[in-house]
Amino acid sequence: MFICSSCGKAYDLPICENCGCTVAKINDIWQLSDDPDIVTDSDGDKYIGYEFIGENYSGNRRNTIEYSDALFADEISKITGDGIFLDLGCGDGSITVPAARNGTNIIAADISNTMITLLKQKAAYNNISLNNVILCRMNALRIMLPDNFIDSVVSNGVLHLISNPEKVIQEIHRVLKSGGCFVFRDDVPGKTVDMPFDNDIYNKIVNEIFSLYWKTLKEHDIYPKKYNWNFDREEICTGLFSFKEQIVISVSREYLNKMKDGFLPRIKSRGFSDQVDVPSHLHDIVMQNVIEQIEWKYGKGFDEVAFRGIEPNIEVTIYKK
Ligand SMILES: C[S@@+](CC[C@H](N)C(=O)[O-])C[C@H]1O[C@@H](n2cnc3c(N)ncnc32)[C@H](O)[C@@H]1O
Ligand SMILES: [Zn+2]
Repeated sequence: MFICSSCGKAYDLPICENCGCTVAKINDIWQLSDDPDIVTDSDGDKYIGYEFIGENYSGNRRNTIEYSDALFADEISKITGDGIFLDLGCGDGSITVPAARNGTNIIAADISNTMITLLKQKAAYNNISLNNVILCRMNALRIMLPDNFIDSVVSNGVLHLISNPEKVIQEIHRVLKSGGCFVFRDDVPGKTVDMPFDNDIYNKIVNEIFSLYWKTLKEHDIYPKKYNWNFDREEICTGLFSFKEQIVISVSREYLNKMKDGFLPRIKSRGFSDQVDVPSHLHDIVMQNVIEQIEWKYGKGFDEVAFRGIEPNIEVTIYKK
């Protein structure tokens, strides 16, 4: 059941029986919003949809189901039971896809059709059916779902991309059933426990790429834009929700991530949100020049260098309505 954007009444897709309006479905994605993909210049709410970051967000690992994401998804499936899980700002499906494998009923929503298309590709690549998943292009600032309808919500890595996270959290609270859970993954993926590995070369190259890139762009009067809205989650959530619970999912697993699989394709294709305002033609020229300098210094195979670490345990905070 959804809320009609024209008349505000609850209806089942695709046609609102009350006002007759029909929702388009493009490439399996219900178009529940016609808001822009990205709003950075407005007196109202701003947000950074990943429409053009999409393809390159996860680099060559775009079809990989990460081990820790699968563990987190298992927890979500457990919390959701037979109910409905809303993955708000689902991106390329790092949580939706493994949760779909568990048979969980999911509404996967994002403002970017490109990101949702990547989600579909990840599922197809891993032979995971999306029969139990409703894919929607939707703005987190206006969740087109009725009150008291959803059993669990995750909005992982999304709230800081929206200038009014409080409004999103109020929306999440509204659509959750009484006893429903708003679940946060609190660890920073990629962060390591105490570092037993020497990643000096990897870190050195990453820092050099960043600094050469931004140094040249600054000469063109282009600066990294930190689109990152801070907010006091604890204050907002404890004000709205009735209970809070914290759990730890143990992971402790070694990983290795080659530069050519993650960092490099992402920065090369403007996949970091602070690159949003870099014009693409200038980016291409500057990036090519940076890579040439790095190759000259570290050799052509520099991108084979890998970051090794141990994934930390997953810290989860659950706010219950
Ligand atoms: C950093 S990604 C995180 C994706 C996913 N949740 C994950 O954990 O891998 C942020 C996602 O939020 C989406 N997003 C940004 N603003 C949004 C908005 N106002 N409504 C819905 N999605 C939004 C972006 O398009 C992007 O896919
Ligand atoms: Zn209607």
